[in-house]
Amino acid sequence: MDNILRDKIYTHAKQWILAAGEQIRNKINEPRIITTKSNPNDLVTEMDKQTEVFFISKIKEVFPGHLIIGEEGFGDQVDTLDGIVWIIDPIDGTMNFVHQKKNFAISIGIYHDGIGEIGLIYDVMADELYQAKRSEGAYKNKQPLVQLKSNLKFEEALLGMNHYFLCENSFVQETSMQQLVRAVRGSRTYGSAALEFAYVAEGIIDAYLSMRLAPWDIAAGIILVNEVGGVTTNLYGEDLNRLKINSILACNPMIQEQLHHFIEKGRK
Ligand code: IPD
Ligand code: CA
Ligand code: CA
Repeated sequence: MDNILRDKIYTHAKQWILAAGEQIRNKINEPRIITTKSNPNDLVTEMDKQTEVFFISKIKEVFPGHLIIGEEGFGDQVDTLDGIVWIIDPIDGTMNFVHQKKNFAISIGIYHDGIGEIGLIYDVMADELYQAKRSEGAYKNKQPLVQLKSNLKFEEALLGMNHYFLCENSFVQETSMQQLVRAVRGSRTYGSAALEFAYVAEGIIDAYLSMRLAPWDIAAGIILVNEVGGVTTNLYGEDLNRLKINSILACNPMIQEQLHHFIEKGRK
């Protein structure tokens, strides 16, 4: 993708994500219409849907040839990443949005022929925009994010991971993951995959692990983490399929091997 086109797309995407965030902030205390999707804890609100529709109408107006994958299903039926594809999670962390009215994000990853070109993750209530263009570094608002530290010690690492890893699960023996959380300095669960990727890119957590994430949860985050020298694979170190569900390990490369040791030890 040439730089002029990329800058044009980036300028619009940034303007739209900030506008969508402002809409959400303005309506944060309005009554919500909450429904459930795959299970009683998989929430969606009218705001998730409105936000996705907002992006789609803007993108189709300015870039009619681009394709869109949106979590709430208002986008296109996309089977390949040929051409320019926007992958959108209108609210990542809907449970936080509903219960906490904060700690959620809008996530947009823009791909050209399968290559991640632009990643935007907007922490709406904090008004913090994490942003990256491929090979041009990553930023939090105007502040550049530095390359991940090369002297990180495993025992001083802070991990982002869901508590389900410590319960019986079908991926990995929970005893191995219990040993992992004891071996590092600490672990955190934030409830927004997009923000957890952004925090890895910012270097405020050193890894993020997840058992199952959809393309819209990871599309932007991968671009941000890769820009600061982080690695993004599935839990077993394999390449991610951008169009399917993947397990996830996004981390500082300094601790990748030790993390794999615990995951492989408990692998089912
Ligand atoms: C969810 C959040 C959560 C992660 C879930 C995702 P949603 O996205 O990112 O942190 O653990 O797997 O589905 O449903 O709030 O967009
Ligand atoms: Ca999500
Ligand atoms: Ca969502």
